[in-house]
Amino acid sequence: METWSLTYDEWDPQEERLREALCTLGNGYFATRGAAEESTTGDFHYPGTYLAGGFNRSISIIAGEEIQNEDLVNWPNWICLSFRHVNDEWLDLSKMEVLSYQQELDLRSGVLSRCLTLRDKYGRESELKTNRFVSMSNKHVAGIKWSLRPLNWSGPIEIKSWIDGGVDNSGVHRYRELNRKHHTVRRSGNIDRESFYLETTTNESQIVMAQAIRNRISKSEFKFDEWIKEDSIGHTFSITLDEQEEVTIEKVMALFHSRDRALSHPLYEAKRLLMKIGNYEEILASHRREWEHLWHLCDIELLDNPREAKLLRFHIFHLLQTVSLHNIDLDAGVPSRGLHGEAYRGHIFWDEVYIFPLLNIRVPEIARSLLMYRYRRLDEARINARESGFEGAMYPWQSGSNGEEESQLTHLNPVSGKWIPDSTYLQRHINSIIVYNIWKYYQATNDLEFLSFFGAEMMLEICRFWASKMTYNLDRDRYDIKNVVGPDEFHTAYPDSDELGINNNAYTNFMVSWCLKTTVELFRSLPVNRRRDLLSILQIKNDELDMWLEKSRKIFIPMAEGGIIEQFEGFEKLEDLNWDHYKRKYGNIQRIDRLLEAEGDDPNKYKLNKQSDVLMIYYLFLPDELEKNYEWLGYHFDKDSILKNIQYHLALSSNGSTLSRVVHSWILSRYDLDLSWHWFLRALESDISDIQGGTTEEGIHLGAMAGTVDLVQRCFTGIEVRDDVIWLLPHIPSKIRHLNLRVRFRGHSIQIRFADDLCKIKIERSWLVPGKIGFQGEVHEFNEGDEFSFKLKPVEADVITDRISSALP
Ligand code: BGC
Repeated sequence: METWSLTYDEWDPQEERLREALCTLGNGYFATRGAAEESTTGDFHYPGTYLAGGFNRSISIIAGEEIQNEDLVNWPNWICLSFRHVNDEWLDLSKMEVLSYQQELDLRSGVLSRCLTLRDKYGRESELKTNRFVSMSNKHVAGIKWSLRPLNWSGPIEIKSWIDGGVDNSGVHRYRELNRKHHTVRRSGNIDRESFYLETTTNESQIVMAQAIRNRISKSEFKFDEWIKEDSIGHTFSITLDEQEEVTIEKVMALFHSRDRALSHPLYEAKRLLMKIGNYEEILASHRREWEHLWHLCDIELLDNPREAKLLRFHIFHLLQTVSLHNIDLDAGVPSRGLHGEAYRGHIFWDEVYIFPLLNIRVPEIARSLLMYRYRRLDEARINARESGFEGAMYPWQSGSNGEEESQLTHLNPVSGKWIPDSTYLQRHINSIIVYNIWKYYQATNDLEFLSFFGAEMMLEICRFWASKMTYNLDRDRYDIKNVVGPDEFHTAYPDSDELGINNNAYTNFMVSWCLKTTVELFRSLPVNRRRDLLSILQIKNDELDMWLEKSRKIFIPMAEGGIIEQFEGFEKLEDLNWDHYKRKYGNIQRIDRLLEAEGDDPNKYKLNKQSDVLMIYYLFLPDELEKNYEWLGYHFDKDSILKNIQYHLALSSNGSTLSRVVHSWILSRYDLDLSWHWFLRALESDISDIQGGTTEEGIHLGAMAGTVDLVQRCFTGIEVRDDVIWLLPHIPSKIRHLNLRVRFRGHSIQIRFADDLCKIKIERSWLVPGKIGFQGEVHEFNEGDEFSFKLKPVEADVITDRISSALP
């Protein structure tokens, strides 16, 4: 099986929208869905182009109420190319016979191509070939090579190439009642006989975007018509073709916007670049070289598992297209659905936690720049905390341009067709993940400058928020955190209660305890000057830090019988759900919340969860770290309780989020590698097989994509950075026999190969200071050129298959 490409060999209109998301091309700065050049928005297609950080805010009226939303804008469609026989209709595959069809996304070089033969109603057969890329080397550039060959006809035709500025945001059916028009064409015009431009501005955020297009036709004789309509501009070429004579158009676009750096004006830059860049082949060659370099840094080779190898590459590919080296200068976070569609309006959630660890030991520069996205929104988080009655900084659950809370307060249940109140914004746990991400980044990179200047400030302010959110409970001499929602979004209130949120979500509380303790410890390890400055700038009193430690030790974690962690206080009193009944009734019950609501019932009443909640604790921490945290909290820790909790909580999950599968695979890897492998495969299939049934066409699930790569990179290899040592504690599923990868650890480049029962390590590049690597209980210093190898021990895992197999989907 080819592991470097995604191929389709038939045209399937019902699948087009899904393929468009899966075949998106991008470079971290902008991305364009893999829609066909001739397609327009309709039942089968949704062309879309998105800019990292390209948001616009607008007001919609829903049921008489004003609702404000911020959306990732769908910008003018630049890929438009089509042809027709004179006086006939423009190309439309749904009205023709598709005789053959080949579509390929080449992951190695980031090129999307199509080759198809078509027959029209008059029996005229044509071959159409297209190649497209969004340059990874020059982020402002993209190109298409479009060729047509008459197979059994000759005669006059017209070819049209244009930009469509009349597009809006209508990629997600559920959002159709909301305002969709986010930009207006300001001006358009011709530059010369080959080129034209279009300039657009968003209605509220006032982002100006300019696209300049150059079309080069291979024919020397042609008639040429320049046209401008209200929202679009294009060139039409009239030519005559002989049978088997191929004509080619090379369409190159330059794109700039007003938030760019080193900028005079977007339109000026777009026109200027278009005049200076080389021809299609030259631009393509440098794009290919850049991808070669990226793959050298980021590839994972699985030599004997072609399907898994291909999907891992597919996931790495989309991750790098969403967050690439081009992000380093941008002020954009990681949109949970990539730059691939409009789901969740391009917002940034906590999904970073699945993405950062991977970047930390591959391209930490990107992770740093994404953390800076949070730092720049610290003031907004402070306002958010203050306005909600707390101290410090409270980051929003959904974030967009400026860091204010972007969560909707009401959402449409597509099953019942009703708009229902949405209080999932109460997921304050996102704040702890920001602290966790800073800590992990620092561990991997030792970037003290980032930690002391930016990281520490965020950590301290978040802790301050948590300390102010906790309330003392005299009865149990512990602290509570009330009115929150945990990662399981199905419980947003107690049944029949008017109060929003639930109390003492175990995961939230556990993380808060860890945050407070870790922040104080890290702060105390900073240079004394910086500590003094921070205390003075943030006006932190000396006893505040001690008070945080006290609260950290005394936070309440709800426990049920037998070491089972209760998801939140009162969860155990909820009703059992008759899973079999709903499975029989609906088949797919991943979104059981929507089904229950449509039946007039309430998910809050039942013991169930959408995704890993308690189980996140085992995903984020190793058993010995957990033990220390339990000890610190004064709760009894029993190693066996991990298994019991996995068994218990796994059985209650509807897996309504793709993120769960990653977590399940991870936590099971320590106990049952076969089951872990099972969940790994499920997670790998999330997008390619659209296992949620229709969500991928609205955008990929970047957290799950990155999470699967991280499962191989860190979980199966057991790579863990601790106390300045990069450790390897492999427990590799038996299905993997040959695994090769390369990681970066504090400037050192380390190649790691697993072949059968042997692990070979080669230090390819090393900084001046020797590094430290640990395996089989020993730490070794290393320098450039050093090589190590060790035999893998058979994995000793507690086999729990029989006990948890009932929880399999
Ligand atoms: C999940 C969240 C996630 C969000 C964006 C939701 O369905 O429940 O945990 O952050 O999607 O991916």
